[in-house]
Amino acid sequence: MSFWTRHQAFEKNSIILIVGILLVIAIGGLVEITPLFYLKSTIEAVDGVRPYTPLELAGRNVYVREGCYLCHSQMIRPLRDEVERYGHFSLAAESMFDHPFQWGSKRTGPDLARVGAKYSDDWHVTHLTNPRAIVPPSVMPGYPFLAQTEVDPDTIADHMRTLRTVGVPYTDDQIANAAADMKAQADPDNAGTDAFTKRYAKAVVRNFDGKTGTPTEMDALIAYLQMLGTLVDFKIYNEKANLR
Ligand code: HEC
Repeated sequence: MSFWTRHQAFEKNSIILIVGILLVIAIGGLVEITPLFYLKSTIEAVDGVRPYTPLELAGRNVYVREGCYLCHSQMIRPLRDEVERYGHFSLAAESMFDHPFQWGSKRTGPDLARVGAKYSDDWHVTHLTNPRAIVPPSVMPGYPFLAQTEVDPDTIADHMRTLRTVGVPYTDDQIANAAADMKAQADPDNAGTDAFTKRYAKAVVRNFDGKTGTPTEMDALIAYLQMLGTLVDFKIYNEKANLR
């Protein structure tokens, strides 16, 4: 029997053909999927990436609550125009502690993945209060109420515990000190500032909204915006890729 006569069995009998298709797809699927079970992680570890501080996390919650992601993405694609405008393309590790991720699918406003340290805190306060005070034709809504609403330091530890159940490596020490750390980050005169910066590498301690007292949602949101894209030292990457 030649190859072609044997092949006729598949062509003339649909059941044999279906079984044959399933067999081939199963082998192809196994070849693709099995290795993933043996990988510890599909995300390449990158130096500098750490979980959010309690204040940044509160700010991120404000960001999600207010739907900033509806107009802003946080993912720079590896395309020349994006890299030239926003900086190094986003790495998977940069959003590994995001639940849910904020990649976004719409850019009414610019990408925010590397907005940290681009503007001063004052700039953000003015812009978030009334974007048109800085960019007259801006369609971004104002969020003046954030400056009047205090963040709740008592519930943030619960949020961190919840994130830990889905794999964010918060330590017991970080969770136990969450409320104190939240206040310390927005108050450079706070006695707990040193302990706080030891717990969170590269965390910026500043009075973000310029007002004293319990941190506001404005403090939290600006703390979050100011750290976006600042954790990884991209000089090494840019040299490697010969960019800039
Ligand atoms: C209706 C769409 C829309 C929403 C919602 C929105 N923005 Fe914007 N955003 C814009 C536009 C358009 C710009 C560009 C003009 C400007 O700077 O105001 C912008 C600019 C910005 C910038 C400056 C970026 C840069 O690199 O210059 C920041 C920071 C920002 N938005 C943060 C936020 C945050 C935080 C929220 C949620 C609290 C938010 N935006 C909600 C549309 C939006």
